[in-house]
Amino acid sequence: MPLIAMVSAKGSPGVSTAALACTLAWPAPTLLAECDPAGGDLLAGYLAKYDLPADRGILPLAGSVLRGSAEHDLTGQLIDLDPPKQKRLALQGIADPTQAASLQPSWARLGELFAHSPYLVIADCGRLSTHYAPWPLLHRADLVLLVMRPTSLRTVSPAVAAISTLRRELPGAEGPSGNLGLVLVGGGISAREITRNLNTPVVANIAWDPKTAAALCGDGRGRRNGPLMKSAMGAFGTIDTAIRTLRNITPIAQWDTQPIPVTR
Ligand SMILES: Nc1ncnc2c1ncn2[C@@H]1O[C@H](COP(=O)(O)OP(=O)(O)OP(=O)(O)O)[C@@H](O)[C@H]1O
Ligand SMILES: [Mg+2]
Repeated sequence: MPLIAMVSAKGSPGVSTAALACTLAWPAPTLLAECDPAGGDLLAGYLAKYDLPADRGILPLAGSVLRGSAEHDLTGQLIDLDPPKQKRLALQGIADPTQAASLQPSWARLGELFAHSPYLVIADCGRLSTHYAPWPLLHRADLVLLVMRPTSLRTVSPAVAAISTLRRELPGAEGPSGNLGLVLVGGGISAREITRNLNTPVVANIAWDPKTAAALCGDGRGRRNGPLMKSAMGAFGTIDTAIRTLRNITPIAQWDTQPIPVTR
């Protein structure tokens, strides 16, 4: 199934929330892989009220990569976000940014593993400008999405720099028909203006919805039918179409149409 990498630029928070909302809403078996070198958000956020083992996740999986057993060990490292269905899963990220260097030798193989897994994988890669950004995984991604807030010039100009870095580093991202797209969080400058200025298509829009976003960060109750979850569901169709257009791959199997409540 496809590997979708989500990244962000300075001044535009929202990538982890968008990635989690899509994982909870999409009608396909989806795995959220926390690949942010600055650290994962799930265990201290959305999953904070559950007593989950802290020794699972991307760090031990990166160790399995080095031992050659990653394919076998992948399932044992996952958390089921909607038990016992195993249709919405998460691979928790590192707890401490100082662990990021240990992931470096494994990114390329992790990218391959995700791209060949039975899940649609959303990799939350965090800010591009951090040390140890997972470039080999980004190379392998079917689609790379820069998640940004189109609020003002202050949020858009760091995105211009991020897009040019992505185009420089990723051969597949070159030109307006490359595998690079934008996800806009909330309103502001129009999608048309943003597309024209960044020479990159807007693939999806995620609603600005503080209540549900707070619930996804582990704080309070959000609404399953709130704007954030609805927009995340809507993003599936446009992202699926973008991937199929780019790669001419098989449509993603539809298995369910109900997102789980964001309170879990
Ligand atoms: N769509 C949204 N609507 C309202 N608030 C949002 C939305 N997305 C994110 N937020 C809020 O913005 C803050 C940061 O969000 P998030 O953790 O998703 O950002 P991030 O880009 O992953 O940040 P970091 O670089 O720290 O990992 C959170 O408080 C979250 O509730
Ligand atoms: Mg984050």
